[in-house]
Amino acid sequence: MYEAAEDSFLLEEEIIAFCKDKVITKSLDMGTGSGIQANTLCKFSKEVYAVDINKESKEKIGKKIKFIHSDLFKKVKEKDFDLIVFNPPYLPDGEEKADPELTGGKQGVELTLKFLKQAKKHLKEDGTILFIASSHANLDLLEKKAGKEYYLERIRELPLFFEKLYVYKATLEKKVLDKVKE
Ligand SMILES: C[S@@+](CC[C@H](N)C(=O)[O-])C[C@H]1O[C@@H](n2cnc3c(N)ncnc32)[C@H](O)[C@@H]1O
Repeated sequence: MYEAAEDSFLLEEEIIAFCKDKVITKSLDMGTGSGIQANTLCKFSKEVYAVDINKESKEKIGKKIKFIHSDLFKKVKEKDFDLIVFNPPYLPDGEEKADPELTGGKQGVELTLKFLKQAKKHLKEDGTILFIASSHANLDLLEKKAGKEYYLERIRELPLFFEKLYVYKATLEKKVLDKVKE
């Protein structure tokens, strides 16, 4: 089970900054793990869903939170989320032994790209996604591919001794919305 670390606290801070002046009806924490993001979302959001491929994560979250044991959005039926957050496994395979808590594909971004592709069907038209990425991963590839589907901004960076962590904000562009509705 993933224990909350620098990446977790970084995303938590950005969730608090994003939510503090808003009305959030429905939010989802993908890859809830330690439960830190879902438990924080509970302070701002009327309904909170938490998803993880590891069902032990259910033990980490508050009773008000609805847990879904799922590989990304496979078992998630709910739509119209105002906010979806994800601190994904973001290291490239090979740098670490393949591990669903840490590694996110050969380039470190494949799982995040899969998540973003699926997430747009569950996001409100004016909804927001906040997620973490690392300088160890192929961020050019991430930005090039995700940039076709979302308006993407790096809203925060955290230099660590061995890498830089980034928080990205993704929102849907009109051209994507039209495609989703087709
Ligand atoms: C870096 S940890 C983050 C945990 C926690 N959200 C945090 O910020 O401390 C990544 C989490 O994603 C989960 N995960 C990995 N692959 C997944 C998938 N395909 N679908 C759902 N969750 C997944 C892992 O089990 C792990 O709990």
